[in-house]
Order: sequence, then C-alpha cells, then structure tokens
Amino acid sequence: MREVDIACEKFRVLLEEQLQRIAAINSEKTDFTTKEVVTIGIIDGDGIGPIIMSQAVRVLEKLLADEIAAGKIVLKHIEGLTIENRLALNQPVPTDVLAEIKTCDVLLKGPTTTPMGGTMESANVTLRRELDLYANIRPVSIPEKNIDWMFYRENTEGEYVLGSRGVELPGMAVDFKVTTDVGTRRIARAAFDYARNNGKTRLSIVTKANIMKKTDGKFTAICHEVAKDYPDISVDDWYIDIMTANLVNEAIRDQFQVVLLPNLSGDIITDEAAQIQGGVGTAGSANIGDRFAMFEAIHGSAPRLIEQGLADYANPSSIMKAEAMLLRHICRTAAAEKLESALDTCTLKVTGDRDGATCAAFADAIMALI
Ligand code: IPM
Ligand code: MG
Repeated sequence: MREVDIACEKFRVLLEEQLQRIAAINSEKTDFTTKEVVTIGIIDGDGIGPIIMSQAVRVLEKLLADEIAAGKIVLKHIEGLTIENRLALNQPVPTDVLAEIKTCDVLLKGPTTTPMGGTMESANVTLRRELDLYANIRPVSIPEKNIDWMFYRENTEGEYVLGSRGVELPGMAVDFKVTTDVGTRRIARAAFDYARNNGKTRLSIVTKANIMKKTDGKFTAICHEVAKDYPDISVDDWYIDIMTANLVNEAIRDQFQVVLLPNLSGDIITDEAAQIQGGVGTAGSANIGDRFAMFEAIHGSAPRLIEQGLADYANPSSIMKAEAMLLRHICRTAAAEKLESALDTCTLKVTGDRDGATCAAFADAIMALI
C-alpha cells in the first residue's frame, strides 16, 4: 500500500475513535455534599514530586484529621506512577495503577516526568483522558497589582487528544487537533457557571481562530452560543498571540477576569500567568471532570533541582494551592479557607535555592498557621 493510503487508513481509525469517545461521554456528577466516604488518592510523582507531596500530605492529614479518624475521608497512597515503572512497562499509566486510581474520587498528584520525543504519552495527558478531566482550572492572583484571573482551559481535546498519534510520511509529519461540540460546550458552561457563581462580569475567549479555522473557529462559535444563557456576563474574543502580550500590558491586564481557552493555548498562557504571579512554583491547578478530579502543581518534576542537589528547597506552594482547590471541590470549605489563608499570610520565602527556606520549613510554617 502507498504511504498516503496507510496514513489515510490510520486517520480513519482516529476519526472513528474520536466519534466513539464523544458518544460515550458520561456527564453524571459525583455529589460530594452527600457522599459518605471520600477517597483521596495520593500520587507522589517523579523528581521533586515525593518531596513536595510528603509536605502536602502532612498538611492534609492535619486539616482533615477528624474526618480521617472517623473513616469519612480515606487517603490512599498509590504507588507505581513513576517514570522508571512507566518506561519499564512502556505504559504512560500502568494498567494496575489506573485501576487503583479509579477507586478514588479525587487525586492529589505530584509532577510526573514526560519523556521528550519517542511515543510515550505524558501521564498527565493519559490521566486527563482516561478520567475525562475536561476542565483545567488555574487561578492566578496578585492582589497588590489588582490581578485576579481565572483560566478555564479545555483539557481533553485540541492538540492533546491525538498528540501522540500523528502520522509520518517520508519527509513529512502531521499531527491532529480535535475540537468537538460536546467537548467545547461543557468547558464553556463550566467557565460561565464559575463566572456567574463568583460575581465575575467578564469572560474572555482566547483562540487562534484566524488560523485554526475549523477547530478554534468551532470553539469560539460554541462559546458564544453558550454565552447567550449568561446575559449578565460580557464576552470578548482575543487571539492567543495578542493575549500573551495583554497579560504583560499593565494598562489593561487587571481588567481580565475569566479566560476560556482550548487546550494548547491554555497550557501556554497559564505558565505565563503563573510566572507573572511569581513563578510556576506558585500556581495550583485543578483538572475537573464530572466523576473524577485531579489536583496538581502547575510545574514539572524539576530535574534541574535534583541534579543540583537542591531538591529540599523545592517550593511546595503550588501543590498546596492545588490542595486547597481539592478541599473546596470536595466541599470541605472550612479546611480550604484555613489553608488558603495560611498560604496568603505565610511570609517564609522558598526560592528553589539555598537562599530560601526549605520545602519542609515552609510546610512547618503552614502547619503552625492552620
Ligand atoms: C501542564 C503541563 C502538561 C501539559 C504536560 C506535563 C503534559 O505542561 O499541566 O500544563 O502540557 O498540559
Ligand atoms: Mg503546561
């Protein structure tokens, strides 16, 4: 068969799989206000993951001590999601690990290493897809600069869903980007609901619809359709390139409130936003689906810190912010508020280097404040 025919055959399979994926979407929601036992899966991750996670777990155990003692909350440590094990098994998320994960309601996860190149998919991407965690929610706030941004990034489609499944022909490579009605509608609704329930008045849709006409074009159109149900929220459109400039434009940036984006644009801009806040070590990230949710730091496993012997100086604030989001998600609002206020008031600075506090010292300070 000619190479082009082989590629077309692969493409047909991909299209059929995607149609099956969207047909199988189940939007039944877990209700944490009535659930008798909530199981929180703890996944350490790679690199600095185990270091920041051990401190985050200490904090969680303190905040939830009574409910853990009463068996209403179970912390379940999940082993085996390490880069060594994943490479040995050649599975981004080993089958038995995924099965364990699915016995939990929510996950607190340390960063996992993504091999560059090759065919091994990122564990994050696999988990987001397998657990259908379609909303990636990333708050960035800098009160002294009047910045209070909430990013709603689509988390299961776009460039990511087939990112490891592109095709290669001699001298040419092609990747695919997928945008669906159902996938866009649910992230748009999540973002508009957030805006409505939190007194926000403005939502900005950010795409590259001038170039990605089919996919980002659809994303924009569906977001505007959803917007009709939220007449109190004003909606504006931006292209991702100018939006990255807007975030460093002090004349206008504090006017943005909720930002709604497809997957890859959301990935890029949330690192920029986190950097403006003080570094990627400072931002938390929630991956929310209807059944499961996963909370993680926005940064990676930081191999550089390990190599330089600085792992103990890793900043746990990002994972602790994610932890606060987890507590809110499972309706433990009082515990979430305690942690948020401790993180806001803690004056200890972690810099990722010897001039700053260690991860453990920072956690001690947080423990003392809660
Ligand atoms: C993120 C990360 C991931 C992503 C990587 C680790 C796959 O950058 O959560 O933003 O690209 O989504
Ligand atoms: Mg990223």
